[in-house]
Amino acid sequence: MTTTENHTPMGFGRMHRKEDARFIRGHGQYVDDVNLPGMLHGAVLRSPHAHARIVSVDTSAAEAHPKVKAVITGQTLEGLNLAWMPTLSHDVQAVLATDKVRFQGQEVAFVVADDHYAARDALELIDVEYEPLPPVVDARRALEPDAPVIRTDIDGKRDNHIFDWEAGDAARTDEVFARADVVSAQDMLYPRVHPAPMETCGAVAHLDPITGKLTVWTTTQAPHAHRTLYALVAGLPEHKIRVISPDIGGGFGNKVGIYPGYVCAVVGSIVTGKPVKWVEDRSENLMSTSFARDYHMHGEIAATSDGKILGVRVKVLADHGAFNGTAQPTKFPAGFFSVFTGSYDIEAAHCAVTGVYTNKAPGGVAYACSFRITEAVYLVERLVDVLAYDLGMDPAELRMRNLLRPEQFPYVSKTGWEYDSGDYPRALSQAMDIAGYAELREEQKRRAATGDGPLMGIGISFFTEAVGAGPRKHMDILGLGMADGAELRVHPTGKAVLRLSCQSQGQGHETTFAQIVAEELGISPDDIEVVHGDTDQTPFGLGTYGSRSTPVSGGATAVVARRVRERAKIVASAMLEVSPDDLEWEKGRWFVQGDPDSGKTIQEIALAAHSDLELPDGVEGHLDATCVYNPPNLTYPFGAYICVVDVDPETGQVKVRRFVAVDDCGVRINPMIVEGQVHGGLAEGIGMALMQVMAFDEDGNHLGGSFMDYLIPTAVECPSWELGETVTPSPHHPIGAKGIGESATVGSPAAVVNAVLDALKPYGVRHADMPLTPAAVWRASQNSPLRT
Ligand code: CDP
Repeated sequence: MTTTENHTPMGFGRMHRKEDARFIRGHGQYVDDVNLPGMLHGAVLRSPHAHARIVSVDTSAAEAHPKVKAVITGQTLEGLNLAWMPTLSHDVQAVLATDKVRFQGQEVAFVVADDHYAARDALELIDVEYEPLPPVVDARRALEPDAPVIRTDIDGKRDNHIFDWEAGDAARTDEVFARADVVSAQDMLYPRVHPAPMETCGAVAHLDPITGKLTVWTTTQAPHAHRTLYALVAGLPEHKIRVISPDIGGGFGNKVGIYPGYVCAVVGSIVTGKPVKWVEDRSENLMSTSFARDYHMHGEIAATSDGKILGVRVKVLADHGAFNGTAQPTKFPAGFFSVFTGSYDIEAAHCAVTGVYTNKAPGGVAYACSFRITEAVYLVERLVDVLAYDLGMDPAELRMRNLLRPEQFPYVSKTGWEYDSGDYPRALSQAMDIAGYAELREEQKRRAATGDGPLMGIGISFFTEAVGAGPRKHMDILGLGMADGAELRVHPTGKAVLRLSCQSQGQGHETTFAQIVAEELGISPDDIEVVHGDTDQTPFGLGTYGSRSTPVSGGATAVVARRVRERAKIVASAMLEVSPDDLEWEKGRWFVQGDPDSGKTIQEIALAAHSDLELPDGVEGHLDATCVYNPPNLTYPFGAYICVVDVDPETGQVKVRRFVAVDDCGVRINPMIVEGQVHGGLAEGIGMALMQVMAFDEDGNHLGGSFMDYLIPTAVECPSWELGETVTPSPHHPIGAKGIGESATVGSPAAVVNAVLDALKPYGVRHADMPLTPAAVWRASQNSPLRT
């Protein structure tokens, strides 16, 4: 294991996180730490039914509660034209239900009281009469002609269909399949899971009655986008809204959207004239805020008999819940799912995705994943293993045979993605070396021969991600382009402040973004303050999700630092009385070419830039710069993962014995932080592969509303990770970096599942759906002749 010296590198390198000083001392400031004078507390009444008509809502008893200051219902909001709000996918969602409830846990009323307990107590005094309706829980059932219609609020809506979307070339793919020696097909489900961040969602809203300014402290990954949406929806002037996203206890996509609770806190403050806090509890978070995945996939892979993959064909039924609130760029209703061709050199591909409404919570967020890439990677990596099973080939050999080769980059995929750079065989070879792949296969054979002890399985996955949304010409969210702003100010004494539009939820931005400036300017990261998460203090940008911070805001930071450096050059030339053309840069100073002793440090230059030094005409002085960075392309990190499991055939218990992860995210700003991101993502992958699903019964009751039922992986389930790395810089990113935040979550579930199924191969098991709980593993092997 690599240790990290507690020293500060002048640029890229391992360094302890600056923000940890406050986090490990318990001094982080989260939304729930915001306490304002006279602040009131809100609580949400939620529907017990998955589908029911609201007959009446009687709030009189709650209003009579001595500590209650206001009770807000859908009817109240209708009066303000706020009962419905737009979703991130051009649908609408009820803030508080008016006509019907459409999922269990849906928001029905909001109580504002003197304290949190009174608000909760008063919820029980609200009398809602429901007329239960038959729920639609299964995505396939949703499309049947006689299925109950969920979205009766949409004029003329007679079914539960949301969209059809396709990518690739259907005819060419059919043609490739027709001449293939082998076609392997598999149905598979990527179950509904939840990001489950440590900190649940919440907001404190305060409409100042004197200035008319609305300040919202809120758990958001995208403060600027939230401000614009509040302005558009509530009709408030945007400059009179300040969104503050303080320290955030994990986002993972859960904190991208706007939830009814946020809007109710704002309305509560408007109605009472006081600040109002709303913070949901764990069950509310799990049951009503955004889920992820829920993709029912049918995949087919075509190949020659000697294992050359020719094409991939996919049909997906996407369960979007009661409102289409899925978070992704406008033109991509299935997110970036069309990267399902993965890391392979194939001739043709096609996918068709259909979205449907069901009586479940809305959302469809990219849980630690760039817009449905996890689903895509899982699909193709399972298909490759299924093909290996059918061909009787080693899955590593099959992958090596088909991986894109380094000389094919930049590579345009069969569904139109331009992969920027990569050396895939090198990454897979490294993973196989670290794992000792040949020896592992030998061990597996030995153990199978003796029949002793648990079954051993070895699983591989190779993934390519597309992160850094995104180029304005290709994508937007609700019409907002995805460029990011950055502002850099160097004070007279050479200390700097960097203001960013992205927002950290624990990824260490205060450290790594300071390191980018340090690398470019030679100012120590300790002397650079990173400001983010406050719309009044930072430039506009679309926030942090989909591992976009480094690809987009990181690019903005490098460019803005280079602008300061160019400004510094002019000041230095005035100080040294030479032409700027005669100056040369080394980290931290400009010096005269051929005379290295004649130079000025960035700190000396900063002071001079603020002095009475005479500068050339048109040069204004100071060392400040701004930038709006519009990335030319996404970045394409990739990796090779190998998982080794032991499976007890009697109990179905899976133990992850080893996990090797070789990641390539281009240039690493802070390798320690990168490794931390990978560790967390791998643990999440084990959680999804082995234990997590948001389950519902046939009445639409949510069966995973607590951590007793929805399991979070811990150190007990995780092995000591074995990491490797390759570095293939992104050719278009200013510092050659690609995103890393989500790579491990994207790549690891398939490796774990492939490993478990590899162990079950002697039982003739070709596929089983996640989560591979002991019961699922045991069930999967029950039909095997080995059982009789
Ligand atoms: O958008 P998000 O911060 O979630 O993801 P990211 O851009 O992949 O970055 C996660 C963390 O890893 C940040 O602190 C990055 O600056 C850091 N990182 C790095 O040090 N080197 C890279 N090549 C990529 C990310």
